[in-house]
Order: sequence, then structure tokens, then C-alpha cells
Amino acid sequence: MNQQYFLPLMWLTLAGLITGLIMVNSHIQLAGNRLNPETQEALNKHLHRFAWMRHLVWIFVLLLFALGVLATYTHQEKRNQALLEKRQAVWPVFNPATLWIAPNAYLAETDAEAELIAYGRDLIVHTQDYFGKDGLLHSGAINELNCQSCHLDAGSKPFGNNYFAVQSTYPQMRARSGTLETVSKRINDCFQRSLNGQALDSTSREMNAMKAYIRWLGTGIPQGVKPKGVGLVEVPFLERAASPEIGRGVFMAKCASCHGADGQGLPIPPDGARKYPPLWGEGSYNEAAGLFRLSRFAGYVKANMPLGASFESPQLSDEEAWDLAAFVNSQPRPKHPFLGADWPDISKKPFDHPFGPYRDSFPEAQHKFGPFKPIVDFNKKK
Ligand code: HEC
Ligand code: HEC
Repeated sequence: MNQQYFLPLMWLTLAGLITGLIMVNSHIQLAGNRLNPETQEALNKHLHRFAWMRHLVWIFVLLLFALGVLATYTHQEKRNQALLEKRQAVWPVFNPATLWIAPNAYLAETDAEAELIAYGRDLIVHTQDYFGKDGLLHSGAINELNCQSCHLDAGSKPFGNNYFAVQSTYPQMRARSGTLETVSKRINDCFQRSLNGQALDSTSREMNAMKAYIRWLGTGIPQGVKPKGVGLVEVPFLERAASPEIGRGVFMAKCASCHGADGQGLPIPPDGARKYPPLWGEGSYNEAAGLFRLSRFAGYVKANMPLGASFESPQLSDEEAWDLAAFVNSQPRPKHPFLGADWPDISKKPFDHPFGPYRDSFPEAQHKFGPFKPIVDFNKKK
């Protein structure tokens, strides 16, 4: 018989059998009640002699029931196992020597948190629709960027500032805050700095959705391990300081067509409902954001800009990346909201953190534009 009909049919038969037995039983009792006392007693005696048979039938029914439960359970287990094997066959296998490739999006459908994952991805791609100027949830809570403006392909692009190592490395001690940071705290860091906005309630559905999506992206990466291709590329240092003046020329030639000559972004054709994101000014990230550090900006643009570039086919030289970083990060933007609180241990400040005090005597300007090698060498010797 076809497997698919076997279990339902078996349960139906069993239910019929039990109903039948109960009916026969109550029928005998009802009929017995109507007899005169002597005949009733005779009948009871008669029935009593066959009581063992009734018990046998009930035992048989119970046995069938137990068998049914077992069959249903093993059937379910088999199906789950088959599903697991199918998923594993298409799920990316972790290999420390090769780039981590994000799992195929359709696989999220089979995750227990499928709905949350899809919502989380949408929040990251279309952050403006939820928190932007006309946002559905908290309008005006953030600047003009989406998470995806900086975490490309919904945080799944190799060296595109992806989220691959988040699941495997959080919670982690972070020197910027001097505390143990959870994923929610790290996401809120980006809300308050990169999106120059307000933190989300860490128990909200939105926070849980983004966490579920980020967790899913890193499924299969061993705890504590950062896969290849994570985060940003490290652009080799220049011998000289990065130059905003040279950067302006590169910007006009290679970036202004999308981000605007004034850096404020441009409408994206055909309907212009969305726009290329602004690189400075009120609509952009504030001075506390990761991209405000020259090495982060240079690493981001080197492997990702102009749009279409990748770490395998970069379109900027190392010098162009650094000079662009110097130019863009010299333009006006929202101030640092946490200047006093960040980097409580100043010896942990990264070489390109452009706000003193420092434990070395290099000036702020050199921490901002370089040359960085002397700073890094000095701190190595310490
Ligand atoms: C203006 C650019 C920008 C925007 C917008 C932005 N981020 Fe980030 N984000 C960064 C940078 C830069 C880093 C740090 C990269 C580094 O230090 O290597 C980062 C780091 C993170 C990390 C930690 C990654 C890790 O591996 O440690 C998470 C999680 C994160 N962002 C989530 C978000 C979410 C969610 C949003 C939207 C709500 C968002 N970010 C918006 C630039 C941005
Ligand atoms: C063809 C259009 C295009 C060009 C040219 C281009 N960008 Fe972008 N840029 C984008 C888009 C689109 C995004 C947002 C990515 C997304 O939403 O998927 C972006 C995002 C960015 C971001 C992060 C978000 C923000 O606003 O801070 C930076 C920084 C950036 N670009 C810098 C540059 C630089 C520097 C150049 C020149 C080398 C450049 N871009 C050239 C289209 C472009």
C-alpha cells in the first residue's frame, strides 16, 4: 500500500474498532438493565465467564494503539532525517581554506524561524521603509542609509562588510565600549553611529528578526572561527599621509556620477523612488561610525566601489582608496555622540581613531590621515 495512506488508514481502523467495542459494551449493559433480575443475574454470570475474552480484546486494542504510536513516530523521524540530509547536501560546508559562501536564500524556508529570517533580511535591505523619513515603524529614526548601503547584498558579499562571523564570534569583548557585547548591542551600535539614529528595543520583533537572519547566514561556521572573506579587505599602508585634495579628483571622476558632486546621493532611475546613498552631510553616518576610520573606509571602497567592484576585480588602486577615504571623511557630517565614553582604555584605540588622547605622541591629524606605519610600529614596540 502507498505509504502516505497507511498511517491515516491504520488510525481510522483503530478508532473504528475502539468505538465498536465501546458501543457493544454499552449496548449489552443497556439491554441487561431491561431484563428481570433472575435473567440479569444469569446473563451477568455468563458474561463473567467470558470476561477474560473482553480483556484480551482490550489488550489487543491497546497493543495496536502502541504500535500505531511507534509507527507514526518512526515515520516522522524518517522524514526529518531525509529533510536534514537534503539540507546538508545543499548547505555550504565550512572549509577554513576557502571563501564562505552564504547559504542559498531558499533554504531559509525550511528553518524553524523562516518568517523571522525573511523579515530580518528585509529590514536590512529596506531599512528606510521601516525607519526612514516615511518609515512604517518609526519614521525619522535614522538617517538616509539602509544597513545594506554598507553591508552589501544583505550582508552576504565576500569582503562586502558581511555578517558571516557574527554568529560564531559574539558575544565578544570589544575595546570600543570596554564591555562584553551581544549581537543586539552591536546592531544598535550601527543604529546609533552608521545610521546616526536611535537604538532599537533589544527585545523587539525587529531586533529578533535581524538576529535570526544574521544567525542563519553563519550556520555551520564553528564557534570562535572567522571564515575566509569576512568583513573588509586590509588595504596596504601608504608611505605618505592620505590626501583629501587628490581624493577630491578621484571622487569627481569615479564616484560623483552616483553619489552626486555634492556627496548627497542621487535619485536612482527609472522612477527615482530610491536614491544612491549620501556620503556626507546630515543624511550620512556620524563621526562615531566605523567608516569614519580611514582604514575601514579604504577597505570598504577598495573591494566594493564603484558599485560592481569586488575584491576579485577591484577598480581602485590602493592610493585611490586611501585618498578617497581622506576626502570623504574630511567633509561635514553629524558629530560623534559618544566621544567621552568610547575607548575607555586609550591604549586600545586603533591607529586610525581620529580623536585623542592617545598613549603615543603622534598628533590627531596623523591618526586621521597617516602615515600610519610609524604609529603601528611605535605601538608594536610598547
Ligand atoms: C555607514 C555604513 C554602515 C551602515 C549603514 C550599517 N553598518 Fe553595520 N557596520 C559598518 C562597519 C564599517 C562595521 C565594522 C566593520 C569592521 O570593523 O570591520 C559594521 C559592523 C556591523 C556588525 C558587526 C560585524 C562583525 O563581524 O563584527 C553588525 C552585526 C552590523 N554592523 C549590523 C548592522 C545593521 C543590522 C545595520 C542596519 C540596522 C548596519 N549594520 C548598518 C557599517 C555600517
Ligand atoms: C554606479 C553607482 C555607484 C558608483 C559609481 C559609486 N557608488 Fe558607492 N554606492 C552605490 C550604491 C548603490 C551604494 C549602496 C549599496 C546598496 O544599497 O546595495 C553605495 C554605497 C557606498 C558607500 C556606503 C554608504 C554610504 O553612503 O556611506 C560608500 C562609502 C560609497 N558607496 C563610496 C563610493 C565611492 C568612494 C565611490 C567612488 C570610487 C563610489 N561609491 C562609487 C553606488 C555607487
